[in-house]
Amino acid sequence: MVTLALRQVGASYGRTTVLSNVSIDMLQSGSLTAIIGPNAAGKSTLFKRIAGLISGPGLVQLSNAAGGDRTICYMPQDTGANAVLTVYESILLASKQGSGWRVHDDELFEIDAILKALRIENLAFRGLGELSGGQRQLVSLAQALVRKPEILLMDEPTSALDLHRQVEVLDFISRLARESGMIVLIALHDLNHVLRYCENTIVIADGEMAMSGSTATVITPEMLREVYRVSARIETCSRGQRFILVDGTA
Ligand SMILES: Nc1ncnc2c1ncn2[C@@H]1O[C@H](COP(=O)(O)OP(=O)(O)OP(=O)(O)O)[C@@H](O)[C@H]1O
Ligand SMILES: [Mg+2]
Repeated sequence: MVTLALRQVGASYGRTTVLSNVSIDMLQSGSLTAIIGPNAAGKSTLFKRIAGLISGPGLVQLSNAAGGDRTICYMPQDTGANAVLTVYESILLASKQGSGWRVHDDELFEIDAILKALRIENLAFRGLGELSGGQRQLVSLAQALVRKPEILLMDEPTSALDLHRQVEVLDFISRLARESGMIVLIALHDLNHVLRYCENTIVIADGEMAMSGSTATVITPEMLREVYRVSARIETCSRGQRFILVDGTA
């Protein structure tokens, strides 16, 4: 099974360093690890650095990867649409990335299965330029999932989705991770989703790793005050699920 570790990873844009000293011993496969932190903290930059889209100091260490284009897949935060393609064509294109152009029947089945799982099969032959923001985000998710990567980096994949879709998508990704043993890193601003879906959490603040560990130990009123400058309580509901109640800015 693939493993991923980060050793003092950093990144700059031009001469400005926006990320430094991110070290993670070994990312857990089969479960979701959250990347959280304020706007402009460096979360998307960290994803781009791990995906090899930008370079910088430190090491991104992979072992036992099958290799090729299916090792790491990065689902960006902004889902720019190539308006010329239909939804189906764009997912097919994503699935063929780096593997030649011959299309096999099983790949078409796979695309159908993903369209169904995300409940967007009705959009298959619509142009990408004609979709709503949430629909575009679901297509972007389909493009990432169809490649069956060993390591999936998802940058706020539910930010444009309604509440039902958010829960549906996070349930689906959790199940997929568990069944396939994928390593999933997911940037989320909804910290209640993090409490519910992510076993481990890494906090990025001001371009550095502020904390990391099991979600229960990382998401505390103290962390919320320090990193997000809000005064908040963490309560446990009658079913034992922990949730955050924000009382105001700190
Ligand atoms: N292409 C770029 N060129 C120059 N600076 C950039 C570029 N992309 C991001 N930055 C800067 O790098 C810093 C980190 O940005 P990044 O996108 O990683 O933040 P983030 O944690 O993902 O924030 P958000 O929660 O708003 O998505 C910010 O100060 C941002 O302005
Ligand atoms: Mg970002």
